[in-house]
Formats: sequence, structure tokens, C-alpha cells
Amino acid sequence: MRGIILAGGAGTRLSPLTKVTSKQLLPIYNKPMIYFPLETLLQAGIREILVIVAPDHAGDFVKLLGSGKEFGCKISYEVQDKPNGLAEAFIIAENFLDKENVALILGDNLFEDDFIEPVRRFKSGALVFASRVPDPERFGVVEFDQNKKVISIIEKPKEPKSDYAVTGLYVYDNAVVQKAKSLQPSSRGELEITDLNTLYLSEGTLEVAFVQGKWLDTGTFEALYQATEFVRTKELQEK
Ligand code: TTP
Repeated sequence: MRGIILAGGAGTRLSPLTKVTSKQLLPIYNKPMIYFPLETLLQAGIREILVIVAPDHAGDFVKLLGSGKEFGCKISYEVQDKPNGLAEAFIIAENFLDKENVALILGDNLFEDDFIEPVRRFKSGALVFASRVPDPERFGVVEFDQNKKVISIIEKPKEPKSDYAVTGLYVYDNAVVQKAKSLQPSSRGELEITDLNTLYLSEGTLEVAFVQGKWLDTGTFEALYQATEFVRTKELQEK
């Protein structure tokens, strides 16, 4: 299994913090944000990692993470010229992925869980992780039937069918590259990861697991603050 950390994007919701640096380089208590998704991939046993960055701050990511040696992994880099959507990552990563399966994690997501078992068990299809949230309309939302079978995943629905959001860790088989290439940009001009998940769902190969511990998407001031507090509490407990 290879890993991708998606650390491009514009970070407009965190402006002016993101005017001169990238969102994923901002501090969460005592570490740069991107350390957390990196640790999640490492804990899952993934050792070959591609970091996808926006052109403006590419050099800063290389300065911070280097070859990956310090973290016991191999890190390579690709530039996403424009924030064309999460699913573009698989097109950018085609050579890096070769014929391997992939775990994609968003560079601004913080998970308490470790994913070693689901990653080890994964064989084919798609595996996404859902978490109960108070504001599902901000995310891709999973709709279940009475038997807890997934019926749909809708991106940022005005009227969410459940309060289960799809979190920023996605595991796919290598067919994801060709599937990503088949997508058309959405009305907001992005290649949507929700469309990819819907393709797998229509083939009957999408599995949804549930996040047990804390999950934070740190893209807003409030979430950034909560993440800092969460990490601070954990660090102090461990001392
Ligand atoms: P978002 O938080 O959806 O977008 P953003 O980071 O551009 O922020 P804002 O909405 O405030 O402008 O992105 C989630 C993660 O995915 C984040 O780590 C950035 C990354 N991303 C990319 O790398 N490329 C993209 O094309 C997009 C849309 C996001």
C-alpha cells in the first residue's frame, strides 16, 4: 500500500493565516499540521508516501519533511498546479502508484484512531471512514438503509440524510487512477472524491467503516483551535 498526503488547496477559510504560508504548515500545538496525517499513514504501516502540494509553498514542504528518512519512510513530492479537486490526486500520482493500492489522507485532517488493521485487511475496491458530526452539510454525507447498507454519498447536501460524514482518509485499489481519469469536473469545477466513491458504490465495492476516536478537519478557525486544544491535552497527559 502506498500513501498520498494531499496538501495543496487554497486554504481561503483560514485567511489571513494562509496568505504567506500553506494551511498544512500551520502549527497544531507543538507540530506542523501535516505531521498528523503523516503519523496516521506511518501508524498504518505505510512507508512510501507522496506529498502533493500547491506550487507556492512546495519548497517549504521539502524543507520540513525532506526525504522522509527522519520519519522512517520515503517521501516524494508532486505539484498540483491548481486546486482542481481531491480526485485529481490519483491522476497526479499515477506513476508513483504504479500497480499498488493507495491510502489518501487530507493534509488538514487529524485522526486519533490508528488504521493498521483495516489497511492490512484491504484487498480491493474502496474503503472510506465515516464519523458522526454536528454539521454534516459541510462534508460528503453517507445515507444508510435500515440494514446499515450504504445507499448514497452526497457532497455537501443542503438536507443531509444522516449525520455521518466521510472523513479525509480513503483507501482504494489501483483502479482508482483510471476511475479518476473518467470523472468530469463538478459544478464547482473540481474532480470530486465523492464521485469516485459513488462509482465504487455503483459497482458494489465500496465499504464504509466507522471512526472510533476523535476526527478533526482543521480547515476553519474553530476547528484549528479545537485541534490545538485536543493535541495539547493529549501531550500534557502523556508527560
Ligand atoms: P479543502 O479544505 O476542501 O480546501 P482548501 O484547503 O483549499 O481550503 P478552503 O476551502 O478554506 O479554501 O481541502 C481539503 C484538503 O485537501 C486540504 O488539505 C487541501 C487539499 N486539497 C488539495 O490538495 N487540492 C485540491 O484541489 C483541494 C480542493 C484540496
